[in-house]
Amino acid sequence: MAPADKPLYYFDYLQLDRLLSAQTPLSQPAAHDELLFIVTHQAFELWFKQILFELDVVLEVMGQDVVAEKDMGEVVSRLQRITVIQRLLIDQIDVLETMTPLDFLEFRDVLIPASGFQSVQFRLIENKLGLDTRHRLKIKGAAYTSVLSSEHAAALAASEAEPSLHDHVSRWLERTPFLSRPGFDFWTAYRQAVSDMLAGDRAVIETHPTLDEGAKAEQLAMFNQTVAGFEAAFDAQRWAELVAAGKRRLPHRAFLAALLINLYRDEPIFQLPFRFLTTLIDIDEGFTTWSHRHALLAHRMIGGRIGTGGTAGHGYLEAAARRHRVFTDLFDLPTFFIPRSARPDLPAEVAEQMGFRFGYPDQRHPDQ
Ligand code: HEM
Repeated sequence: MAPADKPLYYFDYLQLDRLLSAQTPLSQPAAHDELLFIVTHQAFELWFKQILFELDVVLEVMGQDVVAEKDMGEVVSRLQRITVIQRLLIDQIDVLETMTPLDFLEFRDVLIPASGFQSVQFRLIENKLGLDTRHRLKIKGAAYTSVLSSEHAAALAASEAEPSLHDHVSRWLERTPFLSRPGFDFWTAYRQAVSDMLAGDRAVIETHPTLDEGAKAEQLAMFNQTVAGFEAAFDAQRWAELVAAGKRRLPHRAFLAALLINLYRDEPIFQLPFRFLTTLIDIDEGFTTWSHRHALLAHRMIGGRIGTGGTAGHGYLEAAARRHRVFTDLFDLPTFFIPRSARPDLPAEVAEQMGFRFGYPDQRHPDQ
């Protein structure tokens, strides 16, 4: 609090003396674009700080043994703010691309061996979201932390050991009470519905009036792949093996809950959980889009050269954008969707539990 006799001053409140004296270009003679390069990176790091601040609140709420329904609204708002910041981060690349590759060459060598690869905040975001360490690309056989100070490497090792957002989401999904209610077992009902749907689809191909035998065989071969995909989802044991091998991440029960929320997302109780899961997909997509965009930036700036941090350059960045994903199981969910028309009906009692309890007698508003 400012003393009462001294009004708060904008410059002091924002500590602009420190902020605006923290840009120190190193090139000799001074390269004009180095300031832009520094400012852009600093702006990114400030936004990373804000993203981490929002993420920490989300982690705290989602880390509770029971997450109150009323807290989910705040969680979704915090995550949506992150998605808006991500759009800004992607747009900021345009500003940096006003620098040409030749302008960059004027000062690039002074950066070696520093690189955005050493951005601790970026790595913290990845770890807090829940990037699987087994999926991380190695650089010359070494872990991503090998290029960091011991203090930063220790902070990242600690963050890897903490439960991530992915862990919390998994447990939250597993706790969903609606997977099995008296008179309604989602897994059984869903399997039956899929089986009916697939039998119908097979019959359509087999009895199709305009497909010749060759075309039918071709369609049936593709159809059998769809069946195999569904069978993997039906087999909890097989699913657990895929999780152990790092090919799936959500435990089977959590996967089923995510499916349930998506299929019955019109039910009032699932509307916020559905938005939550959708926002997680948005965030994953936001970072992946940024990563691809950043890989293109690197390609146009340095061509096929290696990066200042010693990776293969844009090739490494493209591979990282493809591999460093977190909520891939949520992206894959539509593989297992069935149309609303094929969806099992909910018993009336379960539908009532999923609805808002409040109702006027005879469903009529008192003014009517
Ligand atoms: C001229 C502009 C840029 C070029 C040419 C460039 C190039 C590269 C390259 C080649 C890498 C791979 C590591 C290495 O070998 O150095 C990298 C990594 C990285 N850069 Fe940039 N970069 C640029 C701007 C930025 C900006 C503005 C940011 C914002 C913070 C940034 C953040 C990162 C991050 C976070 C990584 C690690 C990515 C990962 O491992 O998935 N870079 N950059």
